[in-house]
Amino acid sequence: MRLTVFGTGYLGATHAACMAELGHDVLGVDVDPGKVAKLSEGVVPFYEPGLEEVLRRNIDAGRLRFTTSYEEAAQHADVHFLGVGTPQKKGEYAADLKYVNAVVDTLAPLLQRPATIIGKSTVPVGTAAELGPRARAAASVPVEVAWNPEFLREGFAVQDTLRPDRLVLGTDRDRAASPQVEAVVREIYADLLAADIPFLATDLATAELVKVSANAFLATKISFINAVSEVCELTGADVTVLADALGYDARIGRRFLNAGLGFGGGCLPKDIRAFMARAGELGAGGATGFLREVDNINMRRRTQVVDMAAKACGGSLLGANVAVLGAAFKPESDDVRDSPALNVAGMIQLHGAVVSVYDPKAVDNSRKIFPTLNYATSVADACERADVVLVLTEWAEFAALQPQDLDPVVRRRSIIDGRNCLDRAVWRSAGWVYAGLGTA
Ligand code: UDX
Repeated sequence: MRLTVFGTGYLGATHAACMAELGHDVLGVDVDPGKVAKLSEGVVPFYEPGLEEVLRRNIDAGRLRFTTSYEEAAQHADVHFLGVGTPQKKGEYAADLKYVNAVVDTLAPLLQRPATIIGKSTVPVGTAAELGPRARAAASVPVEVAWNPEFLREGFAVQDTLRPDRLVLGTDRDRAASPQVEAVVREIYADLLAADIPFLATDLATAELVKVSANAFLATKISFINAVSEVCELTGADVTVLADALGYDARIGRRFLNAGLGFGGGCLPKDIRAFMARAGELGAGGATGFLREVDNINMRRRTQVVDMAAKACGGSLLGANVAVLGAAFKPESDDVRDSPALNVAGMIQLHGAVVSVYDPKAVDNSRKIFPTLNYATSVADACERADVVLVLTEWAEFAALQPQDLDPVVRRRSIIDGRNCLDRAVWRSAGWVYAGLGTA
């Protein structure tokens, strides 16, 4: 089938490449000519394992192209996926829908044949129901709007798109075309459905809410274990063993119970805030009030690590040399949006320390938003004359570190494990002062 995908960020670029991989004829559309130029040459403008191979294979096969032209997009296909960003609004919790609205407002008047717009972006519940009339008011042909939320994780984007846990489709049940829209989407995902991926057809509001509540649940799970972790730290209990024991209960499950510096990134933090904002508008603010505490627990981890670093430096960070290993919000990503690691590095610098940051992939992005930090070219470089070493993103390279790797370069043998990824017995027996989150 001929498809377009609007937005070529983490979500849109992955979706475009993966739809081509399923055999569709795909046109990716973005207002940024730089991104379009790079993608057209088969270069992914961010780090996502495996995506470049899929991109190149499909460009070479003639199934995937990119453009900035909305006219070309309107010509190319009758099914248009919408994968633009919905960032947090400046100065408030609500999601900013300006990019979503801009695509619909620009595309709709250009449509010359009946079309379906399928939203994939994470939006506040009620958005899709407003976009339908908005698109139809601007178009001279019939337009349907459906919602097919995306659950992909950065670092596993290709795998999550081609083998998702489930497909969810919301259609406007009040529209006569709703069954046809569902049939079209089933055809697009035919290969996935043949592989028995569950498909849940529902209304627009449910589809929008599935995504938001999935992320709210994941954030809650992380903050839950981090709250328990704070108690562990005061009692000598070990949060990792505790999480393992909880995880054996099939009703709980072990995944997303890793205590540490908490969640960041372009989704979980902004999605729980947008959910609170939207629930408040709907008069259900009381029901989502607990998410404020989820957010609080998460943010407290960051100040806790700053305090631990100060303690490790004898009570004050002023003039201390601090090595920060990790800047990305999680391993296998170069994304530094709301990154706990970078946030901690910045706070430590504000306390007067000299901070040296190393990350295998995220240094360029970090430099753009935090130009005043020092960026190192290797672990050893970052740890040169360090008074304390902080591991804040659990890249495999950091988890594999041994005390003898750092012994020759550091000034003081002190390490803070912000992600519970080091073996504290090994570090302690090598004479290091080891401090971790979730253990005494
Ligand atoms: C998330 C959702 O998982 C995904 O389904 C959705 O589509 C987008 O948002 P992503 O932002 O890529 O994906 O990252 P994820 O793997 O969920 O991690 C989010 C944050 O939580 C990271 O900062 C990670 O370090 C942290 N985390 C995760 C923990 O602190 N503990 C855990 O146990 C798991």
